[in-house]
Amino acid sequence: MLIVGNWKAYVESKAKAKALCAGARRLGAKGVHEIVIAPSFPYIGMLAPLRPSVKDVPALGAQDVSITVGGAKTGEVTAGVLREIGVSYVIVGHSERRARGETDEIVTEKARHVLAHGMTPIICVGEADRDPEAQYLKFVRAQISSVFAALTPKERLSVVVAYEPIWAIGKTDLEAITPTDLAEMVLYIRKVLADFMPGRANQKVRILYGGSVDADDVRSLATGTLVDGFLVGRASTDVADFSALVKAIS
Ligand code: 13P
Repeated sequence: MLIVGNWKAYVESKAKAKALCAGARRLGAKGVHEIVIAPSFPYIGMLAPLRPSVKDVPALGAQDVSITVGGAKTGEVTAGVLREIGVSYVIVGHSERRARGETDEIVTEKARHVLAHGMTPIICVGEADRDPEAQYLKFVRAQISSVFAALTPKERLSVVVAYEPIWAIGKTDLEAITPTDLAEMVLYIRKVLADFMPGRANQKVRILYGGSVDADDVRSLATGTLVDGFLVGRASTDVADFSALVKAIS
């Protein structure tokens, strides 16, 4: 499975960042799962030289990327910089970014920059609430469609989709999605992807789940739901918690 640790802004210490990276290296070295850590930008810069090669584990992810391609854009971190420093994955359109005004158009543009620089965008989608009429399905379909419609058939093959329902993010495992609901959602997302990538092509797109995943619920969410991995927030920012989570599905 692909397991991505989104550190968000939880980690504010160089020592902790190094310890988390070392822990993730030990987990990734086992070769059972692909482990990616997504630190804040400065810590990416600090950790990148500690990895012998771009292919070393854990792979590095970024939590966001600029919509610009460089030049007179104060404060922006471009896809070119991320690639140059050794980043392989970029989280795009996280709900915590969308809450600050990031539209589907911006998400699409960022995804295209990431792909143009040979990195893998992790496109986050997910509804704020679930309504009895299941309008949330249309909402998720629209989020996915707006990105995939703008990509070439070849680009689509390199995308990861992360389903992160906003109502489940940052909660306890008691409020996480049920395995049955997750299984349904993964099937639904596959169906949406099949509209853009008929036949077997859409199987290349990995679907992750994120939102209150920890060592206690990850096994049930990984079993029988056809999910390809997890985008983990808080539980990825403690060495023991992250290790327990990964071990629970190893
Ligand atoms: P939590 O695992 O803290 O709920 O966060 C999920 C998330 O937003 C990962 O990107």
